Amino acid sequence: MVKGNIKNTAFTSIYELSNYTNINYAKKIFKEIKNKKTIFVDKNHPLRGNSFLVESRFKTTDKLIRESKIKQIIELGSGLSPHSLCFSNIDDLNYTECDYLENISLKKEIVDKIKNKKKININYVSGNILEADTWTEIKKYLKDEPIVIFCEGFMQYLYLKEWNILAKFIGEFLDHYNGFFLYEDSMKYHPELHSKPETINFLKNMSLFGKTSAPKRIISQERITSFWQKRKFIIDRIPMITKLSSNEYSLESKKMLNSFKMWKILKKD
Ligand SMILES: C[S@@+](CC[C@H](N)C(=O)[O-])C[C@H]1O[C@@H](n2cnc3c(N)ncnc32)[C@H](O)[C@@H]1O
Repeated sequence: MVKGNIKNTAFTSIYELSNYTNINYAKKIFKEIKNKKTIFVDKNHPLRGNSFLVESRFKTTDKLIRESKIKQIIELGSGLSPHSLCFSNIDDLNYTECDYLENISLKKEIVDKIKNKKKININYVSGNILEADTWTEIKKYLKDEPIVIFCEGFMQYLYLKEWNILAKFIGEFLDHYNGFFLYEDSMKYHPELHSKPETINFLKNMSLFGKTSAPKRIISQERITSFWQKRKFIIDRIPMITKLSSNEYSLESKKMLNSFKMWKILKKD
């Protein structure tokens, strides 16, 4: 992903969550962003109309992590997402967010303001997720307990050669701590949807917005499966939550979500 456009890509999901869904803390975060005026804010941004996708991935991730009972969580490319604040009701939480410096500083400032004096164990790591130094920094915050590593809206922006780099770090961490890696399914991984003009348009706009051609490079479900299996990972597929509050949730979008499944990646024993 091109670093210069990080602000824009983080903006789109918080905009959707805040304005069109009932996700906790989203409105508060968005209000702070607007006040700060340091980030791109445009109600006509080109990815408008997809709040059902961001809401579904958010709620499914939240549910799967809570069900796992794992309290040590690493969020990659956390952007301006409300996840860490939403998990703050978990006792003994050890939460680490990672993003580029510009976004992580803005996020920390906003979360500190919203949480006020409430104690929440959130660690902030700034850096490139594809570099070893960043993972060394993350490690400093970890206890010898299982971990969930997850990301939303991040994998679609990576080229396949970058998936290789990421898989190496994920493998090392899961070998050491146990647990799993979680990310959402997306239009990019469903070639059968690519005859639809809305899908093509959406991915084209993602590319334009992030200034990268990665979202347009379609990867099939089979290719992703073989990618992880070749590297000795086990894959579990979990349906996305389809009961949503989004006021942009048409029958057509529900059909799409019904065919999506989260990617839960575990290490072979
Ligand atoms: C589409 S945004 C999603 C943000 C958040 N996960 C959400 O759903 O609201 C992608 C985020 O990943 C971050 N990101 C992308 N590539 C990265 C990299 N190599 N290292 C660190 N952060 C990265 C961007 O800065 C951005 O905040």
